[in-house]
Amino acid sequence: MPTYARIPIAFERGEGAYLFTADGRRYLDFAAGIAVNALGHAHPHLVAALNAQAGKLWHVSNLYEIPESARLAERLAAHSFADRVFFCNSGAEAMEGVIKLARRYQHQAGNPERCRIITCEGAFHGRTMTTLSAARNPKHLDGFGPVAEGFDQVAFGNLNELRAAITPETGAVLVEPIQGEGGVRVASLDYLRGLRAVCDEFGLLLLFDEVQTGMGRSGKLFAYEWSGIAPDAMGLAKGLGGGFPVGAFLATEKAAAGMTAGLHGSTFGGNPLAMAVGNAVLDVLLEDGFLDRVDRLARRFRAGLEDLAARHPRVLDEVRGAGLLLGLHCVAPNSELVARLQDQGLLTVPAAENVVRLLPPLIAERSHIEAALAILERVCAEAAKVA
Ligand SMILES: Cc1ncc(COP(=O)(O)O)c(C=O)c1O
Repeated sequence: MPTYARIPIAFERGEGAYLFTADGRRYLDFAAGIAVNALGHAHPHLVAALNAQAGKLWHVSNLYEIPESARLAERLAAHSFADRVFFCNSGAEAMEGVIKLARRYQHQAGNPERCRIITCEGAFHGRTMTTLSAARNPKHLDGFGPVAEGFDQVAFGNLNELRAAITPETGAVLVEPIQGEGGVRVASLDYLRGLRAVCDEFGLLLLFDEVQTGMGRSGKLFAYEWSGIAPDAMGLAKGLGGGFPVGAFLATEKAAAGMTAGLHGSTFGGNPLAMAVGNAVLDVLLEDGFLDRVDRLARRFRAGLEDLAARHPRVLDEVRGAGLLLGLHCVAPNSELVARLQDQGLLTVPAAENVVRLLPPLIAERSHIEAALAILERVCAEAAKVA
């Protein structure tokens, strides 16, 4: 179905931070499959893990034990706030799980009326009916009604509005620490801490969507870590499989207490292939110094982008984001800049609010950042001439 407005380029192979077309054209990939290819393309450790698993066992279903899945769950729990993990196949499926968990938690706590969830304007949680209903983006919902019940929306970053929206039917609050699709809008750390305090005060679950921000993209394994507080549950996907489709939702023992046998499932969830790759991704992210290096690289990139924006005020008027989830707010249409960058061999992704998203793979090196900045400089200088 023609649901994607595809760019007429096809890649034949990838290597590290680069993608290559069949006719040999090379692109620096700062789209990273929309924050999926955390370790770039064809990372040898991931390729080896997938190949080794492919020769042994692909799928058994969740009728049986899957040791690789238990291992990945234990490792994710050991490196996060969570005690429980459920594996699925995508970000939307992860967020559906988070929503179900929150409702079930309140139901089991004796508050079945507390089934409503407060979400934020500009949010994106996926394309299933419930995640679309949670995010309430009218463009995404056009013609797909009726919208699912149970969500109330407030402005992103506004704690007063959030407090005012809480009713006896509210059971949880769902937020992205950085809104990626929504325009690379960063929640302040104080806002995140405030959310925790409000949720504690009113007995609500705090739910984070870390589908885009998780798995090292912020310079820590999970973006919430920067704030010093933790959610009760969160969704993951994208970087978790480094390009192999996998998602997960994680929760504390308390928040997950109602999720008993038979209540949730997914045929492919936790499949041995996905789990082998997920464990391999984690091997690399947890290597000593890996995330510190991402953080240093991100700071250098950001400084370079700030410089660029200051020199080209007629093209760019703001640098947004954190870690390696960065955005350039554009004066001219972002699609023009994305196309010009692509012509110069740099792949980026548009986001809402006229933003160009820059998502280098986490294995990018200083030389890749400098190369991207040089292309951005050229393109901005050219664009400034016609602006
Ligand atoms: C924050 C966030 N949540 C959920 C999703 C949905 O993930 P998927 O496309 O894997 O269903 C996305 C995808 O862009 C996302 O950025």
